Amino acid sequence: MDRPRITIFDTTLRDGEQSPGCSMNVQEKLHLAQQLDRLGVDVIEAGFPIASDGDFEAVQSIAASLRRPIVAGLARACTGDVDRAWQALQGAARPRIHVFLATSDIHLKYKLRITREKCLEQAREAVRHAKSLCADVEFSPEDATRTDVAFLCQVVEAVIAAGATTVNIPDTVGYSMPEEYGQLIRTLREKVAGIDKVTISTHCHNDLGLAVANSLAGVQQGARQVECTINGIGERAGNASLEEIVMAMRVRPDRYAYETGIASEQLYPSSQMLAEITRVPVQPNKAIIGRNAFAHEAGIHQDGMLKNPLTYEIMTPQSVGVPDSRLVLGKHSGRHALALRCEQLGHQFERRELDEIYRRFVVLADRIKKVQDSHLLELIQDVSSGNLSNSDVAGSQGKKFPPATAALPFPRAVSAAAGANSNDSHPAQVSGSAGQAMVSIPFTDHHSDQEDYLWGV
Ligand code: KIV
Ligand code: ZN
Repeated sequence: MDRPRITIFDTTLRDGEQSPGCSMNVQEKLHLAQQLDRLGVDVIEAGFPIASDGDFEAVQSIAASLRRPIVAGLARACTGDVDRAWQALQGAARPRIHVFLATSDIHLKYKLRITREKCLEQAREAVRHAKSLCADVEFSPEDATRTDVAFLCQVVEAVIAAGATTVNIPDTVGYSMPEEYGQLIRTLREKVAGIDKVTISTHCHNDLGLAVANSLAGVQQGARQVECTINGIGERAGNASLEEIVMAMRVRPDRYAYETGIASEQLYPSSQMLAEITRVPVQPNKAIIGRNAFAHEAGIHQDGMLKNPLTYEIMTPQSVGVPDSRLVLGKHSGRHALALRCEQLGHQFERRELDEIYRRFVVLADRIKKVQDSHLLELIQDVSSGNLSNSDVAGSQGKKFPPATAALPFPRAVSAAAGANSNDSHPAQVSGSAGQAMVSIPFTDHHSDQEDYLWGV
């Protein structure tokens, strides 16, 4: 049976760029837009043309250079904004004007200082005008999740009648809970005349850490477009993360039986490119693309991974463009991983020698946190030269090993990891970011059995 297709609307270049420290110049935006095209997103929101000449130019150059994806420009609900957006989109093969107007009483009273009647009229007029210019018009009632539901239905019905083809429901302040957000989408589908003629879209912010859960709840209730950003960047706590939404659907089709056009192996390269351009690092434990997402330090986990990666990974790193899983050698590591790294460094040991290396390794890891290959090689040399009786490890370390090594500043660490990955077709040679000793998982039969990312299902 065919799975419903979800349109992935990427707003990294618009809402994402609104996050502190993430602004990009025209060239950077164009470069990232080309990567988003390789990633396979359906819609690229390229910017807010009235906001600045730079944003106008960025939308214009992205519109002129990309042919496959829809290119959207944002506009407030007024003629000047809509005209400016349309001007920027002139060269686009598939242009979209995205009009927004706040609808919650809080925004109407304190920000816009207009009545509900005026809001309804302004939304209708702006969409009508946009439609006179462009066939593809999206409307967003900003702060929809804090809007009176009956009024929201009225506005949505009015903009559909005025020609909107996509209706986006923003959880602008990240206030909604998943069941609540899903219920709101369901209510709109039940109550709004003409809703079945348009695409319903989700747009969730992450203030309570629920942006992805809310977006998925919306999809389950009939939304067919998801607005999201690479690395989840965006205003305040960010937007729903594109990579998490896509992989939730890929890894759990039993729960989320939907298709997207995303080439998932482009997720990590896209994430790295964004981090490099903005110099905003990705948190190490970020799902899917964080540097620890496929790293294992605990001995029990490492042992499981070496026996069969199914034990501790639910998708293959390759399926999201990460070159390989890594076993990080730290104080929680076990003999199995240590022995393998020694082998990868060209040394095999008898049980007694390995026990000694392991004993010294744990003492060292406790002290300096990050054991590098060079440290391991010194231990190996010591033990191989027959220095088994030297139990004064701490004393000998005083001469041989440096004090606790600090990690590289993050942007360099990211580049180091990216560089090592991209240049190295044989992961066993890679010692990992910041020079830390890491064990690459050898290619085994398990891999060929479970080539795909669906290891957990
Ligand atoms: O969060 C929001 O409400 C927005 C709209 C402009 C769509 O970003
Ligand atoms: Zn937003």
